[in-house]
Amino acid sequence: MAPSRPGPKAPITAPPLDFSHLPPRGWERVEAFATRYLKVPKGTGAGDPFLLRPWQLDIIKGLFPQCTETRPRQGLLSLPRGNGKTALAAVLALYALFADDTASAQVLIVASDERQARHVFTAARRMIELAPSLDEQVHVYTDRIVVPHTGSELRTLPADVGALQGWDPSLMIVDELHVVTEDVWEAVSSASGKRETSLTLAISTPSDSVESVMFKLVEYGRADDDASFYFKEYAAPAGCALDDETAWYTANPALDDFLHIDAMRAQSRTIREPAFRRYRLGQWVGSEDTWLKFGVWDGLANPDRVVAPGSRVALGFDGSVSGDSTALYGATIEARPHIFLVGVWNNPGSDDWKVPRAEVRAAVDRAFSTYDVVELAADPWGWQSELQSWAETYGERRVVEFNTGYRKRMAPATDLMYQAIQDGRVSHDADPTLRAHISNAQAVTTAQGDVLQKDERKRKRRIDAAIAAVVAHARAHHYLTHKPKKRAVSW
Ligand SMILES: Nc1ncnc2c1ncn2[C@@H]1O[C@H](COP(=O)(O)OP(=O)(O)OP(=O)(O)O)[C@@H](O)[C@H]1O
Ligand SMILES: [Mg+2]
Repeated sequence: MAPSRPGPKAPITAPPLDFSHLPPRGWERVEAFATRYLKVPKGTGAGDPFLLRPWQLDIIKGLFPQCTETRPRQGLLSLPRGNGKTALAAVLALYALFADDTASAQVLIVASDERQARHVFTAARRMIELAPSLDEQVHVYTDRIVVPHTGSELRTLPADVGALQGWDPSLMIVDELHVVTEDVWEAVSSASGKRETSLTLAISTPSDSVESVMFKLVEYGRADDDASFYFKEYAAPAGCALDDETAWYTANPALDDFLHIDAMRAQSRTIREPAFRRYRLGQWVGSEDTWLKFGVWDGLANPDRVVAPGSRVALGFDGSVSGDSTALYGATIEARPHIFLVGVWNNPGSDDWKVPRAEVRAAVDRAFSTYDVVELAADPWGWQSELQSWAETYGERRVVEFNTGYRKRMAPATDLMYQAIQDGRVSHDADPTLRAHISNAQAVTTAQGDVLQKDERKRKRRIDAAIAAVVAHARAHHYLTHKPKKRAVSW
């Protein structure tokens, strides 16, 4: 790798640094190391000793408990912009590089692109430059800082599965996890764990999708039942007003300290609401062009409701063969239909995955024997032979084709569901797949009306469950307003 300064590195002449005067391994040692050796690299207080704030120390206590306690293996900090995520990552990286009493420490900094990874690296390098006693211990290269006396190193790595193989990190930091894909996160988290203590730490603002790795980890952290996973989230309360400055303080621990309120006020007037909520208030608001406003669907959840056996229901089915999800949802036939999961089968992300058709058939059979199924409306694509056999078993009047690609049918169904959602005339069982697919769905306006489509740029964000629910709801609505009558079927 090319050295940052041309020519071979001069040998290190300074004796190894003695950290024996610092407290033993743990958060007190991090604090003492930062205060005595590090300076604020830029921004407010640039050049002053790096004094960790009480809220930062709380986080560090969680990540680096005193020596007798077990350290977590993974951590996630969700913080809005400008709260010192990158600076804190640099402090922890330097502590791990120099002072964590670890043989041949390996500190890896991963980010979606090199520029992002360089933010932490640049901050760390600047802090070293500001600390002569550290500076004389290291060789600095373009993307690597080496401490020859201890064999420790700090490196930046691209967030790419191949580049992440074969390391043995003592600390791995992902700056801005929200842009990292699932396979990269798996590669990151499986790289560590070979040492007695190692930490994979992600520090990020929220992503724009509840189907992201970050949201999965946020939900995991919120559940709070794994001591090896440290989680801290700073966010304004859900649904707060955009200009509620008290909520701003809840979300931004650095506000009025090294984050300035006038900058936030200016932004609140100039950037779009979802972006402000996400970046400045730490809230999960979905992407900008979704079909429903964030939180509207969640507001209709009624997870305690059990659809009683024998209830009159309509079923919507959107099948796939391999790529997308296969989704089967029900809707009760009543003035305020309740939408519920019957079965959903998701491709976990592999190319050769096939939907387990026998399981799908069993779920359909179970639904027909449990409920009074007035109609199963199914997209026939890839499922003709099953549809045929269900029609033979359950009657041709009850099993009908519903081509979800046919806008003349799908647009009115979508509109009906939209109106019902806006008016609060529908409830649902809080099924997580449906919730994710609803939040992925974008509305596209056609001559026939709005229909749902997925984000073309993010094809993995599926919407099949939303389609099945729209179909189930439309058919339930139909039977609420029309008496069942004999109908001709298309085959
Ligand atoms: N105690 C402190 N902790 C963290 N940063 C501090 C502290 N004191 C001063 N600062 C300065 O505050 C600024 C914090 O910015 P930083 O880039 O670290 O925030 P961020 O959350 O990563 O922002 P972004 O979301 O834009 O990436 C830096 O210039 C840093 O030097
Ligand atoms: Mg940053």
